[in-house]
Amino acid sequence: MLRGMRPPEPPVALVTGASSGIGTEFARALAKRGHQVVLVARRRDRLDELAQELEAAHVVECDLAAEPQAVVRKVEELGLTVDLLVNNAGFGTWGRFWELAPEQEAQQVRLLVRKNVQLRGRRKWLTAQSAT
Ligand SMILES: NC(=O)c1ccc[n+]([C@@H]2O[C@H](COP(=O)([O-])OP(=O)(O)OC[C@H]3O[C@@H](n4cnc5c(N)ncnc54)[C@H](OP(=O)(O)O)[C@@H]3O)[C@@H](O)[C@H]2O)c1
Repeated sequence: MLRGMRPPEPPVALVTGASSGIGTEFARALAKRGHQVVLVARRRDRLDELAQELEAAHVVECDLAAEPQAVVRKVEELGLTVDLLVNNAGFGTWGRFWELAPEQEAQQVRLLVRKNVQLRGRRKWLTAQSAT
């Protein structure tokens, strides 16, 4: 490398729903590939634990059903540019539709719709998410 040149910044991956399950594994895999990871979910303690395990990680505690825009603000505050978005946060419900709790169904719709509307392509963000 030429003297005076800074090494390139590692790419930044933002993983929603990083506090458990598939999101945690995405974060681990991306960190292993050299990404800085931004870990997003509500359970701060779990995110902090994962961040300690990974080399370069940032924690953003956020309820994406309530205030997804907070993630965008926080990323800006951190001075990061997101290269890859794994928009994985979500939950499933099972049973006969008419027997399910209406508020939980509404929460699911809010989460799945709002996070996509707010977090989509400010830059070239890639969304990896299953439609539940
Ligand atoms: N596992 C499967 O077989 C399967 C099948 C089809 C689809 N999926 C979908 O794949 C995704 C991951 O599944 P999983 O099995 O890994 O689920 P999981 O272990 O329950 O993880 C869900 C993640 O979403 C986060 N989350 C939920 N509500 C949130 C909210 N309001 N704001 C921010 N984060 C929220 C949770 O974090 P906090 O609770 O800490 O906020 C958690 O990190 C989900 O979207 C799920 O619906 C999974």
